Parts: sequence; C-alpha cells; structure tokens
Amino acid sequence: METRINEIANGIYRLSTYVPDIAPPAGFVFNQFLVLGDEPLMFHTGLCKMFPLNREAVRRIIPLERLRWITYGHYEADECGAMNEWLAIAPQAQAAHGQTGCLVSLNDMADRAPRVLQDGETIDLGGGKRVRYIDTPHTPHGWDAGVLYEESTQTLMCGDLFTQLGDGPALTNGDIVGPAIAGEDLFRYSALNPNMGATIRGLSKLAPRTIALMHGPSFSGDGAAALRALADDYDRRINGAFAAPQSAAA
Ligand SMILES: [Fe+2]
Ligand SMILES: [Fe+2]
Repeated sequence: METRINEIANGIYRLSTYVPDIAPPAGFVFNQFLVLGDEPLMFHTGLCKMFPLNREAVRRIIPLERLRWITYGHYEADECGAMNEWLAIAPQAQAAHGQTGCLVSLNDMADRAPRVLQDGETIDLGGGKRVRYIDTPHTPHGWDAGVLYEESTQTLMCGDLFTQLGDGPALTNGDIVGPAIAGEDLFRYSALNPNMGATIRGLSKLAPRTIALMHGPSFSGDGAAALRALADDYDRRINGAFAAPQSAAA
C-alpha cells in the first residue's frame, strides 16, 4: 500500500490510501486531509495500522512537530484510531471535537485533554485558513458526528458522507451522488434517522466549492446541489423505512 498526496484546494492536501482487499474488485480508499496554516490541522487520523504510511506522507508536506490540531468526524477506527500516535509525535498537537464526542469518548480516550468545539465554532489556523465545526449527530452515523468547513477555500470536509467504492481521481467534477447511493445500498453504513435529510440539506447552505470525501474523490463543483440530491435520497430511504405498515385488514 502507498499513500498518495494531492492538493485538492489551496493549502488543503488529500492523503489517500487505497486498499484493494476491501469490497473487491473495486476496493476502497481512506483519506486524511491536512489543512496548512500557522497551525496545521489534520482531519481524520487514519487507522492505527496505517499510521506509519500516513506519518511519512505528512512528513513530506510539513515537519511532523508543526501539526497543531487533530480533528475527525466521529469516534471510529478509520477516523481517529491513530489519534494518540499523532499526539505522541507532535507535542504541540491537541485533539478537537464536538461536545458530545468529548463527553462520550475523547475526554477518556485522548492522551491529552481535547479542545471542546461548540456547534458552529471556528478555529483560526492563521495564514488565512479558518475551519468551522458543525454538529451532524447520527449523520451519517455516530452520535458525536460532525464535519469541518474551511471558509477561505469553501471546502467541506464531509467525512463518511458520499462514501463510494473504488480508487477514483483525487479531484473530480463528475457525479458523486450516484456512487454514494450505490455505496449506501451496499454497505448500509448510515444510521437512518428522521433528521438526516434536513441535516445534509442544512450543509448545502454553505454552498461548498469543494467537498472532500473520506472514502472517494474530492469533488469540485456545485456542492450545494450535490448535498441537496444526497439529502433527497436519504429522505426517500427514511420515508420508506418509517412508513406506517399497511394494514392487512380493510
Ligand atoms: Fe464512519
Ligand atoms: Fe470513514
């Protein structure tokens, strides 16, 4: 395995590792994102077992000890499995996550105390970069789920939303909704809940120019339209799942 590096927006790097053995023959990618600034930020730590690969990839971009913020979408191995490894090699680094995530997991699991982010709170990274944390509970899964939005580049780091199979290009302006529907059909990874469509539609108001997928290519284009279409598909699924059962009796 190798970890490939591409700049998908100004100062935002995608570190991508393709694993052909997951969901063959298409395979599956795991992406971390590194946002440069005076205080560089990582979104997703990667799996613990991928730490050596990701560490060497980050080292090709910045000195490891410059890493300042460690963030992720929800508490799960691919999102934050290597958190303490990163905290160990970057003495200035601090994990940051939403209130729920800190209360239920991070206050106990992180080797150093995390920064608790309120819904909508921003971290100024310097160098013109500002990231905004947005709570998305149970969307696509995890009570503590949230996403990050980098304001200067209008880049939404959406975590597991839009998960798709395969090893596509680093950046695409093609369709990401159809592959995401296929990914949901296969994996059933989302915690379908009545608020899901509204939560995703709320993200569309950010009108992102780039959407950085954890499992798939980054998307450049009309991010609002893609998010609305994804929200519509989840509304369809949820309306079906929660529809009142038809009575057999007349
Ligand atoms: Fe996940
Ligand atoms: Fe993931």
